[in-house]
Amino acid sequence: MIKMALKDKVLEILEANRGRSVSGNKIAVSLGMTRSAVWKAVKQLREEGYTINAVTNRGYCLTSDNDILNEPAILSFLETKNIGRKIDIFKTVDSTNNFAKSLAQLGCVHGHTIIAEQQTAGKGRQGKKFHSPNNQGLYMSIIVRPELSVDYALTITSCAAVAVAEAIEKVSGLKCGIKWVNDIYAGGKKLCGILTEASIDVEQGGLEYAVIGIGINVSNTVFPKEIEEVATSIRVQTGKSVNRSLLAAEICNSIERHLEKICSKEFIEEYRRRSILIGKRVVVTRNDESETVDCIGIDNYGKLLVRRSKGEEVALSSGMITFAVEQ
Ligand code: BTN
Repeated sequence: MIKMALKDKVLEILEANRGRSVSGNKIAVSLGMTRSAVWKAVKQLREEGYTINAVTNRGYCLTSDNDILNEPAILSFLETKNIGRKIDIFKTVDSTNNFAKSLAQLGCVHGHTIIAEQQTAGKGRQGKKFHSPNNQGLYMSIIVRPELSVDYALTITSCAAVAVAEAIEKVSGLKCGIKWVNDIYAGGKKLCGILTEASIDVEQGGLEYAVIGIGINVSNTVFPKEIEEVATSIRVQTGKSVNRSLLAAEICNSIERHLEKICSKEFIEEYRRRSILIGKRVVVTRNDESETVDCIGIDNYGKLLVRRSKGEEVALSSGMITFAVEQ
């Protein structure tokens, strides 16, 4: 078992009492340490950026506005058996998906989760970059090993999109729609992207593992020029920020709940309800070719059902979608 540092044990107690004071003596007794060791731990935590008030005769209080992603806080909100129970949090990493894939190849457990405060080479779909500035978003990758046939690989992404939309909504109150296949939209703009990377077991014909990479704009108020027209954040939409540790935990809770019944396809109904494409005329771009089509639905495997201009109906499993300009 990995030994927890004393400061993390102190943080665990302060997190469990967020916004309330806990006496130094009480912390010292419950952890079997001296009051001066508690004080040292508090000093270390402050150096890491936590705001901890010390009130005479009342003790230490982790103020409610602290928003540093940390394991004790995430664990305190988790309701899962596996997802997020093993967690690594980094200040900075190139891409949490890349890190997660290396761990998956080394055989890590189902549910192992990687989170970063910042990504230097965050990846989006189709070779695009994902803007991942420090402290403003939630960048996380969850390694899952569900027993699924290859046919269900696409449904993991759709299932994750529903789970993430529900979690964001629960934590922020913000109404979230889904733009096929995996973008979460609010107020007509993109709030979150999901990149699922999977490895197939060729001999067994099933999924070996999938890495579900989730990037959410949380407190950003300024975006780079290239995306400022299309991107938004929870702060921009609601005027408030959310506790990112709570958001991370709710995503784990929601993904575990949905993955457990992925084969029942219940989530597909919810996906359809949240789809912002059904009933719209859009442009689909695949292999550098664009075509205007009408979106008529989502099939049970998460494919986009479209009607082409000559009336032919097809199910798409990939493609970039933009809204068609009505003539
Ligand atoms: C997209 O919008 O095209 C998908 C974006 C996915 C971004 C997330 S952030 C966490 C994880 N790590 C990455 O490098 N990408 C995903």
